[in-house]
Amino acid sequence: MRIAVAGGTGISGQHVVAAARARDHEVVVLARSTGIDLLSGAGVERALRGVDAVIDMSNPSSTETPDAVSFFAGVTHTLLTAGHRAGVAHHIAVSIVGIDAAPEGYYAGKLTQERLIAEGAVPWTIQRSTQFHEFAAQMFARATVAGIHLAPRGRVQPIAAHELATHLVRRAEEGPQGRARDLAGPREESLAEMVRSYARAIGHRMPLPAISVPGAIGRAQRSGALLPSGDSLLGTQTFTEWLQALPDA
Ligand SMILES: NC(=O)c1ccc[n+]([C@@H]2O[C@H](COP(=O)([O-])OP(=O)(O)OC[C@H]3O[C@@H](n4cnc5c(N)ncnc54)[C@H](OP(=O)(O)O)[C@@H]3O)[C@@H](O)[C@H]2O)c1
Repeated sequence: MRIAVAGGTGISGQHVVAAARARDHEVVVLARSTGIDLLSGAGVERALRGVDAVIDMSNPSSTETPDAVSFFAGVTHTLLTAGHRAGVAHHIAVSIVGIDAAPEGYYAGKLTQERLIAEGAVPWTIQRSTQFHEFAAQMFARATVAGIHLAPRGRVQPIAAHELATHLVRRAEEGPQGRARDLAGPREESLAEMVRSYARAIGHRMPLPAISVPGAIGRAQRSGALLPSGDSLLGTQTFTEWLQALPDA
């Protein structure tokens, strides 16, 4: 198959590109660093000609794009419009388990993305996933005040991005399924401890004070509303195993 990976240079998108190539699929990467801006839409229809499936792993850069709704609405509009014109048979997007519990900010963006896909003209699959193990690194980088790294409190059941990636490529091979069964990692973890463990693994020696992130998303994360339900599919690699496999751990 010919598979386009939107955001194929990102943390999880790179794994999708690798997983698709490992299954002998031809891959087209759509990202600004490969010359395609999904918000302007220029050149996207041409890039999607001959593509069987689009896997959207794009994500706003938080500092450049404060409004997640406009980012996900814009990117999804671009991909669905250009994909429909180019004859793409399957649009796949990854969303987040439990986001209905906190429909604001970033999660409002993900819910907008889901709605546009479900209402769109391209047959689709939406795969909700829990946070990735890599989320610990993203939180370490983003949760800082005056240069001090913080450890946000939360209950998560993280999955390895490479396992999600393999799963998404299988979804592409299987064809459109609508809302797929949720995907989660093998066991619940404390987000604060994940961020601290990641910090130690990369040689950060300062203490990381725990914080309770304000707002609905922070509350949902602490309450367990973002944990998977009993019928979710579970990955196998634990956060500890992922950490031990880091190149410089
Ligand atoms: N992180 C998690 O724990 C988690 C959990 C569940 C679901 N998800 C979902 O997984 C997806 C990927 O997340 P991630 O954290 O792996 O993303 P990420 O590392 O932030 O990567 C974002 C990607 O989007 C591209 N991008 C950003 N703006 C663009 C634009 N205007 N045009 C074209 N490409 C653009 C970036 O490439 P350029 O900068 O080169 O453009 C990059 O390849 C998101 O939809 C997210 O909601 C994430």
